[in-house]
Amino acid sequence: MQYSMKYIFGFAAAVCFVCSILISTANVALRERQEVNKLLDKQKSVLQAAWLVQPGEKVDRARVEEIFQNIRPRVLDVTTGQLLDAAGEDEFDESKAPEMPAPDNNAGIRTMPEKVQIYEVMEDGRVTMLVLPIVGKGLWSTMKGFLALDADGRTIRGLTYYEQAETPGLGGEVDNPRWKALWPGRLAYDDAGKPAIQVIKGPAGTPEEAPYEVDGLSGATLTSRGVTNMLQFWLGENGYAPFLKSFGKSGRA
Ligand SMILES: Cc1cc2nc3c(=O)[nH]c(=O)nc-3n(C[C@H](O)[C@H](O)[C@H](O)COP(=O)(O)O)c2cc1C
Repeated sequence: MQYSMKYIFGFAAAVCFVCSILISTANVALRERQEVNKLLDKQKSVLQAAWLVQPGEKVDRARVEEIFQNIRPRVLDVTTGQLLDAAGEDEFDESKAPEMPAPDNNAGIRTMPEKVQIYEVMEDGRVTMLVLPIVGKGLWSTMKGFLALDADGRTIRGLTYYEQAETPGLGGEVDNPRWKALWPGRLAYDDAGKPAIQVIKGPAGTPEEAPYEVDGLSGATLTSRGVTNMLQFWLGENGYAPFLKSFGKSGRA
């Protein structure tokens, strides 16, 4: 049977129309679920950075919510180093936070948010850990993650990346639990209060032997350098240093 051109085009247009309606409906209907899953993913990364869940541990939403009972999300004004009134994650939309030009840096950061969501890990009413967002360039990609610090504002409790597109097996090893296990116990700042932590080329030794150094990722010196550069930036005066100093002094820890 032969169909006319008009019929063929009309049929194709009708199929496209129906499919686009289906896709838009699915998109709208699933948006809320996507947002919930995005938040859940981020919360899991916060827990991984703080080693409140172990690598490979399966954690469902209920477990994340249970652990988050003891985690207080706060909004930090990076420009002043001051915490704003307690604000839940639902009240602060990071993607809408105003951006400002970043001062000169080696981490490939051109603009930075004026306000960020940070997390206070609580135990018996006291803050025992701070989980701070970090972002910067690796070799191929912008890497986003969290740095967990002890309440002393100096001792590293963990580092994790939840978004990066470095080469698997090379720079992608930032995600390797064995590499992440090298971070707890190292020191972010030296005795003079200068950001000192860095990823070196080759092995660094234990935190006691090398408190300011972490093993380089083999075959991935450039990604390793990216990690160092972003930590130096975010731990510096233009990042979290003013907040961490006042946090230590306030005795809230
Ligand atoms: C296909 C390909 C992918 C690479 N991916 C990465 C990467 O993700 N991170 C990185 O630092 N270097 C990567 N490199 C290697 C860099 O080009 C560079 O050689 C390396 O960072 C040097 O590190 P090394 O001194 O430890 O060998 C890649 C190289 C190739 C050919």
